Amino acid sequence: MKHQQLLVANWKMNGSAELVDSISATLAGITFTGLDVVICPPFTLLHRFAEQRNFALGAQNVSQHSAGAYTGEISAAQLLEANATYVIIGHSERRTLNAETDELIAAKLKAATEAGLTPILCVGETLEQRQQEKTEQVIARQLDAVYASQPELLAKSVIAYEPIWAIGTGESASPEQAQAIHAFIRDHLAQLDSAVASKIKLLYGGSVNGENCSALFAQPDINGALVGGASLKAAEFAQICSSAQE
Ligand code: PGA
Repeated sequence: MKHQQLLVANWKMNGSAELVDSISATLAGITFTGLDVVICPPFTLLHRFAEQRNFALGAQNVSQHSAGAYTGEISAAQLLEANATYVIIGHSERRTLNAETDELIAAKLKAATEAGLTPILCVGETLEQRQQEKTEQVIARQLDAVYASQPELLAKSVIAYEPIWAIGTGESASPEQAQAIHAFIRDHLAQLDSAVASKIKLLYGGSVNGENCSALFAQPDINGALVGGASLKAAEFAQICSSAQE
């Protein structure tokens, strides 16, 4: 059985009220079949989206704490109140630029899931790790750090494989490279829970665009994409949505 596909837009620190309007208007013209779409804008734009829309909203980060003296942080409950139902956790930019550790990411995933958000856990290797043939080892560590001690969270998660060398570089992984790692991730998770592993959504991310998306979506273990740069262009993102439904 083919999985329902999932397309997630990661706006990063981009976008404006104007982009909210143009993306909303473009997507309103599409009927999604077999596809769920999630837009993850900066926090401040979540409330700019209409209550009625044919896609879901997500955030790009969440605090591991539920409330308190954590200046600048935002809790999972606050995200839900701002209409987000998904949250990206452990994006490589946050792992690198904000020094997020595997332990912190595991705590964030727990907080998000317990509050009722669907976490999108990002994993992926650097170019150096790939060249040293450590890709599988790195990804296994990133997955185990979150799920080995809390396997019950797996059933509520989405996982995005994002090779760091492919993010924002214009150089996507080839469909074969991505498929090989997705199959590895599914096999690895099957050791924790084979029924859940066969159903979990595995997204590919890293320079996905209107041209390369179809070949990626054709791979058996790729269930959608996490799209950065190309999600900021309404027409191109709409094209990626159409390809995901074919
Ligand atoms: P990109 O970003 O599509 O611009 O490569 C993807 C991501 O970082 O999620």
